[in-house]
Amino acid sequence: MAIIKLGEDIRIRKIQDNTEVVPDIQQLKLNLEQIEKGGYDHFMLKEIHEQPQSIVDAYRGRLLASKGIIKMGSVDNNISRFLNANRIVIVACGTSWHAGLVAEYLFEDLARIPVEVEYASEFRYRNPIINTNDIVIAISQSGETADTLAAIKLAKSKGAFVFGVCNVVGSSIARETDTGAYTHAGPEIGVASTKAFTTQITVLALIALKLGNLKGELSNSKFNHYIQELSLIPGKVEEVLKMDKEIEKIAAIYKDAPNCLYLGRGFNFPVALEGALKLKEISYIHAEGYPAAEMKHGPIALIDEHMPVVVIATKKGHYDKVVSNIQEIKARNGKIIAIITKGDTIVRDIADHVIEIPETEEAFVPLLSTIPLQLLSYYIAVMRGCNVDQPRNLAKSVTVE
Ligand code: AGP
Repeated sequence: MAIIKLGEDIRIRKIQDNTEVVPDIQQLKLNLEQIEKGGYDHFMLKEIHEQPQSIVDAYRGRLLASKGIIKMGSVDNNISRFLNANRIVIVACGTSWHAGLVAEYLFEDLARIPVEVEYASEFRYRNPIINTNDIVIAISQSGETADTLAAIKLAKSKGAFVFGVCNVVGSSIARETDTGAYTHAGPEIGVASTKAFTTQITVLALIALKLGNLKGELSNSKFNHYIQELSLIPGKVEEVLKMDKEIEKIAAIYKDAPNCLYLGRGFNFPVALEGALKLKEISYIHAEGYPAAEMKHGPIALIDEHMPVVVIATKKGHYDKVVSNIQEIKARNGKIIAIITKGDTIVRDIADHVIEIPETEEAFVPLLSTIPLQLLSYYIAVMRGCNVDQPRNLAKSVTVE
């Protein structure tokens, strides 16, 4: 129990026995401008538009593109653990869990390290098998999510080395993990996570690239190419953000849809899940994300002229297969909103609406393909009169079970 009186110091007592607790006071390094809306209607929109800068902040001092190196003290100081890891287990919740799914593709594709991604809430109660040479990565924007914190404690009790990817400095998870890397996204006020997601992916991509090169899975030339391309991502995010008004027009058409499906393959499968979560949590429209190929195992029965389907159909990764998925949906009168690679005319000719994003490496597509989905959800929620920054029933940090 904290007793706060104007002009007096805060006093904290334990409720159970009334003993005094000495508070650990931390000076917030935030200025007023940072926590104000900066001229945007909502914190969420501000944070969506901050992503070019927050991605730069996430790799600042770590991605040294001109020297062709990636420097991360918390990884370098534990490099033998990472290089000898037989497996990486990722524990997280919600959007952070989606970032963990992207990381699964990153670590397995770039560094050839097996990855398992676990809902922290399941992991903590499942009596999981943790081997001593496993690395557990806990991902959390707030650093206070109860399920993720409990999963970390369980993993540590089983002897695992736990690496944290958090945004809030000094948070419980940051303090509980053995080491970690902050995402430096700045304060994320909107309940719906946006810049946290892209900065989490940025940090995880840096680790996967570094390990891939050190393990010899990525040649120096390929490693360098990835490093150069990652340094171009903030500019490419800026380009996607310019589609803002086009996306608002599409939102106006579908703002009253009762349901929505999101489809993606490979690196874009987690983005489909994330896009669906964004829509449902701020606009209250029921939305589901699926691997595109999964449609034929049941969900295609849902398709009719009332079902908008957002398909991430970028040129990299099983493009032809996604095009045939789109054709199957069109044949059943489904409405298609496609996220496509700039200049793609094939999908443009069959989809009902297209949103173009710049070309990039397949591993980095999620950093771009998620942006239109954030904006689409934002505009639909605003048009539906929803409280975008503080959606009903939700908290920014789920500190209870
Ligand atoms: C995502 O938009 C939600 N705010 C929610 O799913 C969130 O990602 C989840 O609660 C995990 O929060 P954390 O990243 O702070 O641990």
